[in-house]
Amino acid sequence: MMMRKKKIVVAVTGASGAIYADLLLKKLSQLKDQIAEVAVVMSDNAKDVWRFELGNEDYSNHPYRFYAKKDFMAPFASGSAKFDTMVIVPCSMGTLGRIAGGISDDLITRAADVILKERRKLILVARDTPLNLIHIRNMATVTEAGGIICPAIPSYYSKPQTIEELAMTVVNRVIDLIGLENESYEWKGM
Ligand SMILES: Cc1cc2nc3c(=O)[nH]c(=O)nc-3n(C[C@H](O)[C@H](O)[C@H](O)COP(=O)(O)O)c2cc1C
Repeated sequence: MMMRKKKIVVAVTGASGAIYADLLLKKLSQLKDQIAEVAVVMSDNAKDVWRFELGNEDYSNHPYRFYAKKDFMAPFASGSAKFDTMVIVPCSMGTLGRIAGGISDDLITRAADVILKERRKLILVARDTPLNLIHIRNMATVTEAGGIICPAIPSYYSKPQTIEELAMTVVNRVIDLIGLENESYEWKGM
């Protein structure tokens, strides 16, 4: 069966784990046959954390259109642009809280609000530890509104040997949730 090609928004915020965003953007390039469009938006903190954790500004090398965080004219700020999926990777507790509170004061939170109101797929690769009750309640609120909390929690049963392989265990779950065909490790049981 022919799958309709997906239109995906990738938002990057200032939680730890810029590597997840970098690897997801690389993986989406490899899966481009299944994708109509990828649009990217980063918060200011995301750029700071990326520079700090990865030691570069290579986000600009990814072959996608980047939108300014206050650009409410971006297509995906409106439901009529029909983006299928939005991934926020990594997703800070601040951005999670603003989405849970309906505070659409920048392009990331507005786009998330749109995805939820249009009943499309919102995937939050949330990261912080430990969690306080406000974080947990915000996760419940977003889940009740139809969003998917996919915490940035790697798995070890594929026996990853490098940080990239470990981070890919999270990214591959995101790829599965988006609904893209992907060859990756699959737990078959013992
Ligand atoms: C190096 C670094 C790591 C951070 N890690 C996290 C984190 O894992 N989770 C989180 O919620 N905030 C984290 N923060 C704090 C956020 O960047 C901060 O709350 C910011 O306001 C989030 O804004 P944004 O959601 O618009 O990117 C971190 C900040 C720095 C500088």
